[in-house]
Amino acid sequence: MKKRRTAEPYKIKAVEPLNMLSREEREQALKRAGYNTFLLDSEDVYIDLLTDSGTSAMSDQQWGALMVGDEAYAGSKSWYRLRDAVQEIYGYQYVLPTHQGRGAENLLSQLMIKEGDYIPGNMYFTTTRAHQELNGGTFVDVIIDEAHDSSAELDFKGDIDLTKLQKLIDDVGAERIPYVCLAVTVNMAGGQPVSMANMREVYELCQRYGISVFYDATRCVENAYFIKEREEGYQDQSIRNILKEMFSYSDGCTMSGKKDALVNIGGFLAMNDEELYIRSRELVVVYEGMPTYGGMAGRDMEAMAQGIYEAADDHFIEHRIHQVRYLGDQLIEAGIPVVRPIGGHAIFLDAKAFLPHIPQDQFPAQALAGALYLDSGVRGMERGIVSAGRNKETGENNKPKLEMVRLTIPRRVYTNNHMDVVADSVIELFEKRDQITGLQMEYEPPTLRFFNARFSPLVESKTLI
Ligand code: F0G
Repeated sequence: MKKRRTAEPYKIKAVEPLNMLSREEREQALKRAGYNTFLLDSEDVYIDLLTDSGTSAMSDQQWGALMVGDEAYAGSKSWYRLRDAVQEIYGYQYVLPTHQGRGAENLLSQLMIKEGDYIPGNMYFTTTRAHQELNGGTFVDVIIDEAHDSSAELDFKGDIDLTKLQKLIDDVGAERIPYVCLAVTVNMAGGQPVSMANMREVYELCQRYGISVFYDATRCVENAYFIKEREEGYQDQSIRNILKEMFSYSDGCTMSGKKDALVNIGGFLAMNDEELYIRSRELVVVYEGMPTYGGMAGRDMEAMAQGIYEAADDHFIEHRIHQVRYLGDQLIEAGIPVVRPIGGHAIFLDAKAFLPHIPQDQFPAQALAGALYLDSGVRGMERGIVSAGRNKETGENNKPKLEMVRLTIPRRVYTNNHMDVVADSVIELFEKRDQITGLQMEYEPPTLRFFNARFSPLVESKTLI
């Protein structure tokens, strides 16, 4: 029997019309943007897959929640609602609101890292590593080797390699490792999840050495769904239960509410240690705001509290993961090189395999992102050599193994028809891939260069394709 199809677990109450530019208009727009999709104007974009961050559609309940937000400077009702939601769904005792994820990363890095420390993690994330380095720390990648291989088909490609972690402890000493940063899921590896077994083992190992474990919980609900789907013993458990168990193997987390809390802005730092909480309360007032609003309006906290509950709904997350897979499967079927298995929030096109004629120092992923925009007005993001920046000591370009274009799916925003449009465009580009040319960098900002870098096509033709 044919497999029965499923649909979105919501219906649409408000719509936002999209702009559809001509090919000529897109050429001009891309040129104005210095061939960097980050610099395109939103109104020049048809389907925006730049990021899933802060781009979710809120529910009617969340829009309603905005109206009852309590804007008191101190002791806001909305803060207590947010704190209660975090305590209930994540299980941590202490919570501090921040304006977004990197606000929490800043606080955690300042509180925990001393000059010369090492922070092991399962692959880096740009802002996370930047804060670690700003505080004198060195990030050490201890993810399993397969995570760097775009075609390795593993259920839990985000796992930490315990041997690598143990070796780091032996080499530098536990006292030089303030905490392990465990991202659930791993954005830069393709949205790959971490298994419950690995979380448990990492925590046990760290406890033996007095090392803390902090999760980057940004996409924790997506991770929970993969555990439910793939890890033995979790099939009949609710997402809420799985989340609770996940967080029980950690000492705290940083969170970008802009992803798995279904809001457009917000974040938090959470922990179980009272002494650390008291110290972070001192710091939050310097960088974010009072510990009862921390850079968010009361209405934002209210919407985020509601979003935390909605995201932990089994039907919501099932559809979310399946929509991403719906796009990914079409590309796989057409023979497009993508990171496999398909992760939680995005499809990652393997630009090295897509454009083997463009060497990495001619920015193949950046070129592919530009070509996709020219072809269909779909905006993706470079996640390769530009994003990886330069080595702190040598000044050389970091050359990541994975050179990718990320097509990130916002939550509850696009339908599967939009996914079809994206698939058609990528497949057509693949058919004429040898016509795509490389880029040279015209302007390089000193930090997080991918945001503002500008490029031009290497070949004197006027466009990339
Ligand atoms: N950690 C991860 C894994 C992230 O993906 C992000 C943001 C952050 C931390 C920082 O959170 O943006 O709220 O300050 N990722 C966005 C993205 C920017 O497009 O992947 P933030």
